[in-house]
Amino acid sequence: MSNVPVEMSAELQAVKNRLGLVGNAPALMEAVSRAMRVAPIDLSVLVIGESGTGKEFFPKIIHMGSARKHNKLIAVNCGAIPQGTIDSELFGHEKGAFTDAISSRKGYFEEADGGTIFLDEVAELPLTTQARLLRVLESGEFLKVGSSVVQKTNIRIVAATNVDLSKAVEEGRFREDLYYRLSTVLINVPPLRDRGGDIMLLARKFASDFAERYRMPAIAFSDSAASALVSYRWPGNVRQLKNVVEQVALFEAGTEVGRDELARYIPQGFGISTPALSSEGLHSYAQEREVLFNMIFRLQRELDAVRAEIAERTDHSATQVVDLPHAPSIEAAMPRSIVKYTAPKQFVVPAEARPATVDVSAMSGMTLEDTERETIRQSLDRNGGRRKATAKELNISERTLYRKIKEYGLE
Ligand SMILES: Nc1ncnc2c1ncn2[C@@H]1O[C@H](COP(=O)(O)OP(=O)(O)OP(=O)(O)O)[C@@H](O)[C@H]1O
Ligand SMILES: [Mg+2]
Repeated sequence: MSNVPVEMSAELQAVKNRLGLVGNAPALMEAVSRAMRVAPIDLSVLVIGESGTGKEFFPKIIHMGSARKHNKLIAVNCGAIPQGTIDSELFGHEKGAFTDAISSRKGYFEEADGGTIFLDEVAELPLTTQARLLRVLESGEFLKVGSSVVQKTNIRIVAATNVDLSKAVEEGRFREDLYYRLSTVLINVPPLRDRGGDIMLLARKFASDFAERYRMPAIAFSDSAASALVSYRWPGNVRQLKNVVEQVALFEAGTEVGRDELARYIPQGFGISTPALSSEGLHSYAQEREVLFNMIFRLQRELDAVRAEIAERTDHSATQVVDLPHAPSIEAAMPRSIVKYTAPKQFVVPAEARPATVDVSAMSGMTLEDTERETIRQSLDRNGGRRKATAKELNISERTLYRKIKEYGLE
C-alpha cells in the first residue's frame, strides 16, 4: 500500500466494508484512494479497466465522498439504451417530440440535478448524444428533445469504459474534446491477474457468501487449486472468478476442490488437459449434464436420508416436533446466474423428478429462441463474460447483444 497515505487507511477500510469491496492489492487500493481523494472535488472522472474488474464501485465511492451525497446517483448503461431513445432518456423530451411522446418527460440530467450521473460503457454513446453531453459538461445547459428552451442542471459525471477511448477517438467514434473533458481525472482499475493474494480472498469470500445464501455446505480449495486460481489469467476478471466459484460451490458443495475439478469450470482449463476433459471440449453440455445429475443424485440421497430419519423419529415419539431446516428445491438452490450460465433449459430437471425418471426426450425440442439463448450463453461463457468479444464472435453489434442479454435475462 505504498501510495496510500497512512491516515487514509481507516477511512479506506470503512469504504471497502461499506461497499463489500474485497482486496488489498496496492494497485487496487491506489485506485480506491484516488477515488476518495477526488470525491470532494467536483471534477469529472473516467474509470477505465478491463471488463469485470469492479469499475462499478467507483461512482459509488466518489458520490459517497462528495457534497452531493444527499442527492441522487443515477447509473446509466449507455450501451443498453437503444440509440433512438438515448437522448430522450438522458435529457428528457417534450410532449409530441416524437410519435410515442404522449407527454413530456424529465431526463436523468434533470432528475439527478445536484447529484451524480454514472455513465457506464460511455464509449457506446452515439456522436449526437456526445455533443449534447459536452454542452452540459461545459455550461450545465441542455435542451429536452423537441424543445428549444435551454435548461440548467448541476451534475457531476463519472464515466466508465472497458474499451480504449483514445483508439475510439482515433477512429472517429468518440469526440476528442469530450474525451479530454471526461478524463480530467483518470482512475485505472487493475486486472485481477495482477492482484496476487486478492484472488484467494475473493474466491473464499464468494464461496462462503454462496454457501450462506443457498444454505449449502461450503467448499474449500486445495493448495493445488489455490495456486491454479492465482496463476490463471482471468480474462473476465472478478466477474468470471465469481461465476466460476459459484458454479463450483454449487456442484462440488461440501468438498475440498482440487486443481483438476476446478479446471472443468474454466473454458480452456488451466492450460493442461486432463484425460476426463480432453476429447469433447472442456465445457461441453455432456459434462454439465453429468455434474448436474450427480448433484441431483447427491441431493436426492441426502433428502432420502433426512426423510428416513424423520419417519423414524415420528414413529418413536408422536409428539416431538422436528424443526427441519428448509430444504430448497434444486432449482431454488441454484442462483439464476448459474442456471443461466451452465445449465441449458432442457437440462434443468424439476426438483421432484427422481433421477431414474428423467425424461431424456424432453431434452430435444429446443425452440429457435432456446437455441439463440444457448448460443449467446455459450459464447459469453467462452469469452469470460466479455461482451465485446462475444458480440464479435457472434457477428452481431454490441447493442444487439445487450438487448438479447436483457431479453433472455443472461446478465
Ligand atoms: N474487489 C471486489 N470485491 C468484491 N466484488 C467485486 C470486486 N470487484 C468486482 N466485484 C464483483 O464482480 C462483478 C463485476 O464487477 P463490475 O460489474 O463492477 O465490473 P465492471 O468493471 O463494471 O465490468 P464491465 O466493464 O464488464 O461492465 C460484480 O458482481 C462485482 O460486485
Ligand atoms: Mg460495468
